[in-house]
Amino acid sequence: MSNSGEAELLHTFRGIPFTTRSSPELLKSLDTFVAREDDVLLVSYPKSGTHWLAGVIAKLYNTQVTITSPIEFGDISQLEKLNKLSSKRIIPTHLDYNMLPPNFKNKKCKMIYISRNPKDTAVSMFHYYRDNPNLPTVENWTAFFDLFLKGNVVCGSWFDHFLSWEKHEDEKNILFLFYEDMKKDLPKVVKEITLFLNLNVSDNDIQDVCEKSSFSEMKNDAEKENSNPTHTVCALTSNRKLIFRKGAVGDWKNYFTPKQNIRFQEVFNEKMKLSKL
Ligand code: A3P
Repeated sequence: MSNSGEAELLHTFRGIPFTTRSSPELLKSLDTFVAREDDVLLVSYPKSGTHWLAGVIAKLYNTQVTITSPIEFGDISQLEKLNKLSSKRIIPTHLDYNMLPPNFKNKKCKMIYISRNPKDTAVSMFHYYRDNPNLPTVENWTAFFDLFLKGNVVCGSWFDHFLSWEKHEDEKNILFLFYEDMKKDLPKVVKEITLFLNLNVSDNDIQDVCEKSSFSEMKNDAEKENSNPTHTVCALTSNRKLIFRKGAVGDWKNYFTPKQNIRFQEVFNEKMKLSKL
């Protein structure tokens, strides 16, 4: 249940809710966006660990690349800025596979898709709805739970988003990562990322990147920064202070009632029956 502000904060494009930080004109122009062979896309449904992954990748490349704002962020002038960028582009996005500019697919650009247990994603997104002025207000967890299950939230259904990408999981230019694996063994996942991106990084340096990418380090860094409204990793906010909340696996257990858990499982089983997950 959202308040009347929803009408002003969200708009729907091709059936998917976007915030007004993504203009319809820009979304339309994505169809003709010109990709470069060496572009790398960081893809996620919101609240899956996008900033964490972006933080790791920024440290791996050091200064040789630009992590741009999400491709769906801003008005049409943002695309011009992307076109003019002379360095290699690491481009975050929350777009569903079907909405991705076709040129990225044709040019077989490398894409990393990060996913997270949808129950934890839902809880994280609930807090984001509460804290982020760019999103509609929600009354309480019960109301948000229903919206999430129906896919009636920004970026649409978690299930549809995941399935749209999972169909392409076996393509060589796409790497699938899980937030839970990063929590369990970050150096192992970072090594996998370096192999995928053909980066020559020593095990010592990987260790160093992992230490600097811990939840507490990244949260501290964000506290010290002033947000830059023209640059963001998530199309839903430029304020990184909103991102580093708890950084835990299994927080859903503190929110889901037994009934909600059963309901979620039923929807999950139905929607994901053809999924490998
Ligand atoms: P919580 O809200 O559960 O804490 P995104 O970047 O896609 O918006 O995802 C945000 C989620 O990733 C938040 O989850 C945030 O705390 C978590 N996160 C960000 N950096 C992290 C890190 N270094 N380690 C673990 N979790 C991290």
